[in-house]
Amino acid sequence: MKYPAVEAYRFYNESPEVDDFYRAVIAGFRQTPRSIPPKYFYDEEGSRLFESICEQPEYYLTRTEIMLLEKHADAIKSLAGSGCYLVEPGSGSCEKVRLLLETLRPTAYVPMDISCAHLKAAAAGIATDYPWLDVHAVCADITREVSLSFIPEQVAPVMFYPGSSIGNFDPDAAVGFLTCLARIAGPGGGLLIGVDLKKDPATLHEAYNDASGVTAAFNLNLLQRANRELDADFDMDAFEHHALYNCTAGRIEMHLISTRKQSVHIDGHSFNFNAGDSIHTENSYKYTNDEFRLLAQQAGFTSCAVWTDSDQLFSLHFLRVTRSLSE
Ligand code: AVJ
Repeated sequence: MKYPAVEAYRFYNESPEVDDFYRAVIAGFRQTPRSIPPKYFYDEEGSRLFESICEQPEYYLTRTEIMLLEKHADAIKSLAGSGCYLVEPGSGSCEKVRLLLETLRPTAYVPMDISCAHLKAAAAGIATDYPWLDVHAVCADITREVSLSFIPEQVAPVMFYPGSSIGNFDPDAAVGFLTCLARIAGPGGGLLIGVDLKKDPATLHEAYNDASGVTAAFNLNLLQRANRELDADFDMDAFEHHALYNCTAGRIEMHLISTRKQSVHIDGHSFNFNAGDSIHTENSYKYTNDEFRLLAQQAGFTSCAVWTDSDQLFSLHFLRVTRSLSE
């Protein structure tokens, strides 16, 4: 569905299927181990807490990626070419792209997000601050197929996927998602992606167990969200935040652990917990440069460049679609 131009940007709504938190929680609680998909962290309160996580001294990811984007903006520009179409799936508040816009001078910026209200506000902000830029905001669930039919045929877009959000997918699903991005970008299209590196477990552990307890609050907010939206009765004092680095799988896992035997009710459904029972709320995979290049290769990308900081905390990859994936 297309809507007429609103202010200085165009808006496209491709996501009429509003994500169903209720169905996801019930389905996730009927499985063993219990789980809730991490995309449900980001209600208003969760988004606020996430922004606060990004400012915690232990959470090196955001500031390191920002440094890399600033430092390598010129190199990114030579790879992206001038006047590109810059597409950002899961654009959130559109803050990081601002670090690139003046240097990159793209023809158009295409923020895509599942949260329409958030997307509209962020797109309006970009359109106001960069009046020379053509902004097309697409409200869509980026894990589903989307067509960006307003992008001219001959244009091979550059995709921007910062923040190591790719870490939320299991490796197989990450290949699937990257394949979708490759399909949108098309042959010759690019992908600028931020990926958190494997490193000593202590540094990782601290990043997900900050001293101020913001990550704990972010994790526990899922239960509060269920209490607010789903008529659930989680006792906030009877669940604890746990984050650990699973070396074998190469991922941080976040869990909410029941501190005692209890029953939780969600809209008439009853769920029993013993002390120590877990709700698995997030995986955050970490990759070496070689591992990630291999993953991207399976999705049809070739590596053009990879930048890392001197402490080898975080990586920024520029990849290009090598073959047609349209068959
Ligand atoms: C947004 C998925 C990249 O995994 O580091 C931060 C989310 N979870 N602290 C991450 C998160 C706990 C974040 N990603």
